[in-house]
Amino acid sequence: MGSAERHVSVIGLGRVGLPLALSFHDRGMRVLGVDHDPRVLESLRAGRMPFNEAGTQELLDDAVRSPRWELSARAADAARAQDIVLTLGTPSFSHIESDLSQIRAAVDDLLPLLAPGHSLILRSTIAPGTTEFVAGYVAKRRGLRIGEEVFVAHAPERIAAGRFLEEISRLPCIVGGVDDPSTERAAELFGAFGAPIVRTTPVQAELAKIWTNILRYATFALPNLLMMDCERYDANVFEVIDLINHDYPRGGIAMPGLTAGTCLRKDFAFSEERSNAPGMLLAVSRVNEAVPLFLVEGIKRRLGTVSGRKVAVLGLTFKRDTDDERDSLSHKLVRLLERELADVAVCDPHAPSPTQPLGDTLDGADVVIVATNHSEFEGEPLLREILARASGECLLVDPWNAVGGAQVFAYAGESAQLLGLEFSAEAG
Ligand SMILES: NC(=O)c1ccc[n+]([C@@H]2O[C@H](COP(=O)([O-])OP(=O)(O)OC[C@H]3O[C@@H](n4cnc5c(N)ncnc54)[C@H](O)[C@@H]3O)[C@@H](O)[C@H]2O)c1
Repeated sequence: MGSAERHVSVIGLGRVGLPLALSFHDRGMRVLGVDHDPRVLESLRAGRMPFNEAGTQELLDDAVRSPRWELSARAADAARAQDIVLTLGTPSFSHIESDLSQIRAAVDDLLPLLAPGHSLILRSTIAPGTTEFVAGYVAKRRGLRIGEEVFVAHAPERIAAGRFLEEISRLPCIVGGVDDPSTERAAELFGAFGAPIVRTTPVQAELAKIWTNILRYATFALPNLLMMDCERYDANVFEVIDLINHDYPRGGIAMPGLTAGTCLRKDFAFSEERSNAPGMLLAVSRVNEAVPLFLVEGIKRRLGTVSGRKVAVLGLTFKRDTDDERDSLSHKLVRLLERELADVAVCDPHAPSPTQPLGDTLDGADVVIVATNHSEFEGEPLLREILARASGECLLVDPWNAVGGAQVFAYAGESAQLLGLEFSAEAG
């Protein structure tokens, strides 16, 4: 099947599905994008990306003028294409269980229309066994022969937000079909991007994806735990990290920060729900989730109270230079500060939520917290702005070491001295 006449549907036009659908279109395929959220369809019909993803607005500009680009609100319409890619949300329930309801709903809508020749490809992050479950469900409910009539595979998405168009044609694409013909159908479709295709079993593809994220989540929990331990021992976490990493050839430890986001915060649950070491990954999650409270407690230890004090929170999104606020720990930090009756001001030039300009946020602040290490919140320029605007005794909280003073908690004047900046106590 050549890509010129290939017809593909993508169900779920979120941060994963929409860039993928646009990329299939960009490779010459006929694409039907499906999403049941009317706001998503309205934005796309008006030619506007609902979120930022580098280079995709240009692809959408082309798509809206193209006869090969169609949109629909109904999952059942996806059956018009031979290849159906599912990029639906796969949250986890709060009691640690994979929530498959979006996938079940879309598959149920498709079931009556599935016919010989269809290929179902799960691109969402899913718990081990889900691809086999979907294949079994289709076979049981429709009596279709999997691998002969209908094909089912998992091709997990491992691209970092903001780098989609760069990574789709470079990152190895893992493809695990429930049988060889299913693997080959999915490999042929994703082969259009030119990245190496790595063939495996569905469960190995599922495990590879969730453990890619578990590795990152645990990797950041270690420096976060170390940061909290250092506070107990009155040690400097950045100096300890430097002692660990300096000229040491066997790996290294990452830097602390606020670690969450929609994938890391829930994907560990897909292992934890059937874990051989129940609680181990839950502990990783608890460490990362404890960081906002650790910061608030650290501020209270130094200032006594934050009640009635102005606290400037810089950054609302879950990571640097993205506009994705979902599952960001900044929101938790703000809620904890509000429970301490602090006067919280927030600045985030990337976030969709309304926030204040940097100057207004810093004006008269008693505490400044760098919650997201956006490129706007870095080094000397930020410190100068804080010195000029915040209160003379402003406490700077910088778990990312964004300013460069290598102190999680330091008075802004101390940071200025550490960085060799001229500082007058009257500033601010
Ligand atoms: N966001 C990321 O960076 C990322 C990276 C790798 C993998 N993933 C995984 O990819 C999957 C999708 O993630 P996302 O961030 O794009 O999710 P999302 O929630 O942004 O997108 C899902 C979309 O599906 C739509 N939808 C839900 N049910 C539907 C239905 N029955 N019919 C039609 N549309 C429906 C929703 O309206 C939404 O727009 C998840 O499994 C996620 O874990 C996400």
